[in-house]
Amino acid sequence: MTVLGVETTCDETAVSLLRDGRDILSTITATQMQHAEFGGVVPEVAARAHLETLPSLYNAALERSGIAESEISGVAVACGPGLIGALLVGVSWAKGFGLAKGLPFIGVSHLEGHLFANTLEGSTLEPPFVALIVSGGHTLLTWVRAWGDYVGLGQTRDDACGEAFDKVAKLLNLGYPGGPEISRVATAGQPDAIAFPRAMGTQANFDFSYSGLKTAVVRYVNANPELSPADVANVAASFQEAAVEILVQKSVAACNAVGVNQIAVGGGVAANNRLRELLDRAAVQHGLRCFYPSGWLCTDNAAMIAAVGDFYLQRGARSGASLSATASWSLWPPGKVFTWDREAQKIN
Ligand code: KG4
Ligand code: ZN
Repeated sequence: MTVLGVETTCDETAVSLLRDGRDILSTITATQMQHAEFGGVVPEVAARAHLETLPSLYNAALERSGIAESEISGVAVACGPGLIGALLVGVSWAKGFGLAKGLPFIGVSHLEGHLFANTLEGSTLEPPFVALIVSGGHTLLTWVRAWGDYVGLGQTRDDACGEAFDKVAKLLNLGYPGGPEISRVATAGQPDAIAFPRAMGTQANFDFSYSGLKTAVVRYVNANPELSPADVANVAASFQEAAVEILVQKSVAACNAVGVNQIAVGGGVAANNRLRELLDRAAVQHGLRCFYPSGWLCTDNAAMIAAVGDFYLQRGARSGASLSATASWSLWPPGKVFTWDREAQKIN
């Protein structure tokens, strides 16, 4: 089966053609640079840019794939979570394409896409495992018992981890998106220069909180307004350390709690080198295996959307003509939410 994947949840317009769920024939991601001057994504600007870019991006992806349009056998689109106007552009386009060509189509969760990015590039990952999804909008831990069968373990109670990277980068006058900038600047700093808080680290749950860490950095910068480049590097490195250390600690604890020995990471923050370094180190200590997609597959792309689509379309799942966009949707399919009761060691 050759699936066309379409991704327009936020500020990346992306199209991909994927054969048999694993073979990326082509994948193109157009990042909207229009938002840089605002230091964050402007929803209306994002929707308009998707509308302008999507048709030509599809043509380019088809050409690069080397296949004929008639070889496409299914369509998958990320229909949530994300910015509603942006989502609607992708959903309407993909639905129109599917209906016009008489192809089966399906709306999938963008977050499940981040998870399925771990099935590409010849990965050998198979459930069960714990997945850590860390992006600009989400920070969550889930127990993947089988593909499509997820138990929610915990999530952020306020800001997402990537959002904290973006906000701290803005505060330090670094570029947008902030994650790669913080990561770059942090290489020249000391991770233990400033003792920023590890929120909820001592609590017996798998939830996260990033607003306290962000506020601590704001306070530090306000109290030290004349930061030299070396100081900025120390702030970046110390913030990054606090942000990723807690991800590592909770991911390892989650594996131990549910009794699995594999962790898969997805979402933009999964591209962070320090996160990978600390997680790999902890994994060796605890006898765990870690899986990460390549950096470009961690951030938003359409190959991961096509991968989820392939999985569900192969199993006969279809979306109808009434498919719409859902701004707040998680990894868990609607009506199928399980949560892990850590004290009782059972699923609710
Ligand atoms: O998954 P993604 O592309 O979009 C969302 O679904 O949100 O993630 C984007 C987020 C941004 O907050 C960005 O700053 C962060 O991922 N990010 C990183 C790195 N690369 C991207 N954060 C930390 N280190 C990185 N290297
Ligand atoms: Zn994403």
